[in-house]
Amino acid sequence: MLKKLKIFKNKKILITGHNGFKGSWLTIWLIILGAKVVGISLKDNNQNNHFNLVKKKIKIKSYYFDIRNKKRVQDVVLNEQPDYIFHLAAQSLVYKSIINPRFNWETNVIGLLNLLESISKLKKKCYGIIVTSDKCYKNLEQNKGYKETDILGGIDPYSASKASTEILFHSYYKTFFISKKNIRLCTARAGNVIGGGDWSSYRLIPDCMKMWLNNSVPIIRNPKSTRPWQHVLEALSGYLILAYQLTKNKKISGHSFNFSSDKIKNITVLEFLKKIKKKWPDVKWKIKAKNKFYESSLLQLNNSKAKKILNWNAKLNINETIDFVVEWYKYFNINKKNMFSVSCNQISKYMNKKI
Ligand SMILES: NC(=O)c1ccc[n+]([C@@H]2O[C@H](COP(=O)([O-])OP(=O)(O)OC[C@H]3O[C@@H](n4cnc5c(N)ncnc54)[C@H](O)[C@@H]3O)[C@@H](O)[C@H]2O)c1
Repeated sequence: MLKKLKIFKNKKILITGHNGFKGSWLTIWLIILGAKVVGISLKDNNQNNHFNLVKKKIKIKSYYFDIRNKKRVQDVVLNEQPDYIFHLAAQSLVYKSIINPRFNWETNVIGLLNLLESISKLKKKCYGIIVTSDKCYKNLEQNKGYKETDILGGIDPYSASKASTEILFHSYYKTFFISKKNIRLCTARAGNVIGGGDWSSYRLIPDCMKMWLNNSVPIIRNPKSTRPWQHVLEALSGYLILAYQLTKNKKISGHSFNFSSDKIKNITVLEFLKKIKKKWPDVKWKIKAKNKFYESSLLQLNNSKAKKILNWNAKLNINETIDFVVEWYKYFNINKKNMFSVSCNQISKYMNKKI
């Protein structure tokens, strides 16, 4: 299926959030595929930011401004006339949504509204993937995976804003886009992803990696809890295949699709860390008594719609996922100037891997 991605060659692609964790990998991937990439993000001066580590090696036009600014979003969309848009710009962390809920709501909801209004002014053909989250679903504390038809919800401001972006998208689509023949759009819902170049706080793997690279010892509070582990390239392959299928099949326009790994099941945090240690023997951690506060169960996604309609499949098992993650951070530790070739190699390996 990934062979079909050659359709992106020479296409103009707008990625919002191109210097974020997922956006930076998507940018490199599309550049490898021969696309002309344009990005919108907020400036990030952190030298270790994945995009900053690779930007000298790639040809890309970056616009740095706030997507809450409707005029600027519209100017870029209308001036650049993209063939494809991947919308990833968002306030992406639950803890930050609690510290600054207004920025979270405005960025995630008004930012999307600005983009949809701009897209509606395009006269040319354009295909767009709006990235939301597994957190858009109302958490019913169930053990089975959520389907695209399940009820939306979300209590913390981040999750609620992601449910709101889904409602905004479907309302806007059915009211303004359904009769437009030149525009096709979908939303994509994926869960927490892991991979090289993520430096976010309050995420288990980036927090551990930062401490290990600093020769410190992280404290693990919930060693027995499981996570819906998924490598970033799995989710991105879903977004790319969705854009490809959207080009070929107008019937899927207006739909939402879940992307989750079914190759990795029920791996606890402790088992995951032990597997990392096998590949990186220097790493250590301390276990602290379990948090006595109630922890809501993590959302799992049912990916059967993406498998059936898009012919998308997850590729990586737990060991392959950990290999990619550890390899990236180990190389970063040795020579961070080389990260463009490390990231490119991982994308090529992923593309060539059989299911
Ligand atoms: N990383 C995950 O595990 C995960 C899980 C589920 C959903 N998502 C979603 O995927 C998308 C990308 O996530 P990520 O992990 O790469 O996030 P990230 O925080 O690493 O990157 C966010 C990007 O959005 C940009 N941005 C934020 N606010 C902006 C604003 N007001 N104006 C312009 N640009 C702005 C940032 O500059 C950055 O490029 C987001 O929509 C996020 O909610 C991520």
